[in-house]
Amino acid sequence: MNKRIVSLIMAFVLIYNFTGCQKKEKNFNETLRVGVVTYTQDDPFINAMTQELKDNLKSMENDNFRIIVSEKNGDDSQRDQDEVVEEMIDAGCDIMCVNLVDRTAPGKIIKLARQNNIPIIFFNREPVKEDLMQWNKLYYVGCDAEQSGVMQGQIAADYIKANKNVDKNNDGKIQYVLLEGEAGHQDAISRTDCSVKTIINNGINLEKLSYQFADWNRGQAENRTTQLIDQYGNNIEMIISNNDEMAIGAVEAYKKSGYGEDEWPIICGIDGLNDALIAVKEGQMQGTVYNDKEDQSMEIAKLVVDIFKGNDLKKHNLDSGKYYVSQYKKVDINNVDDFISR
Ligand code: BGC
Ligand code: CA
Repeated sequence: MNKRIVSLIMAFVLIYNFTGCQKKEKNFNETLRVGVVTYTQDDPFINAMTQELKDNLKSMENDNFRIIVSEKNGDDSQRDQDEVVEEMIDAGCDIMCVNLVDRTAPGKIIKLARQNNIPIIFFNREPVKEDLMQWNKLYYVGCDAEQSGVMQGQIAADYIKANKNVDKNNDGKIQYVLLEGEAGHQDAISRTDCSVKTIINNGINLEKLSYQFADWNRGQAENRTTQLIDQYGNNIEMIISNNDEMAIGAVEAYKKSGYGEDEWPIICGIDGLNDALIAVKEGQMQGTVYNDKEDQSMEIAKLVVDIFKGNDLKKHNLDSGKYYVSQYKKVDINNVDDFISR
């Protein structure tokens, strides 16, 4: 009799512990492992965008669905990035989001992805179409670079037309400098081309003083601008920059130059990063073009989940079934507050 009671109690304890234990540990039915690889760890726009992406993916988890994100970068070398991708695939990964170092050289990564059947969403640094067409599980999320150049040109042209004093020496021409991102980057090429053309198409005479590559980078742009100020003194009337980080570099150079703000050239950027929005608000920059990182990272996150779950991708409205093109927005003193409060 006693033995029966003891074994009953033991059985009860066992069952209790077992179910208790099961309850304690969350029972995820599905786990999605996402690898995010950027071209460098030092790009403020890219870092803001990947942070947003990680937050979005976190918010898509639920009790039955876990999302694990691992993040690495290519340290500015395509060969290093290829290795990083290989390691991440070996370690176990369902989908990858890749911000290429060299957008013309995705061959190794595409090959690895196909061999292992890992879909890839490229973002921000756009592979050429032939590469993206190599396999049906390759996607691209980004923007239309020309649009940003046109918008930047419109902001500058409108400002120049409304403010005759931009032409400081009153010679009917705007003496300008262009700060360029990275040679070969789709955004640098099209932004440079389209912003200048747009200003000219608006009936404004331009005189080019200098084009300088500064690699998207604030520090490099500050150095270049300081050299240009040494060379041209007060004669620069406009600085067009392929991105905000470099535009802020130019602002920094002018802050240290000894020239009063009323003598500065007009300065326009692209991206809508916080520092630039504040500079627009304070009148140190005349405008920027919002590169919608929230929209792009939300699209990447949704794509990742839908691809993983095998959902219909129709609602994503992808061009050629592969491209998501986010819309740029003009920012100047009239609407900058809307973007600061975002
Ligand atoms: C952004 C730059 C960034 C670059 C990196 C561009 O779209 O405007 O700020 O450095 O992408 O690829
Ligand atoms: Ca002039």
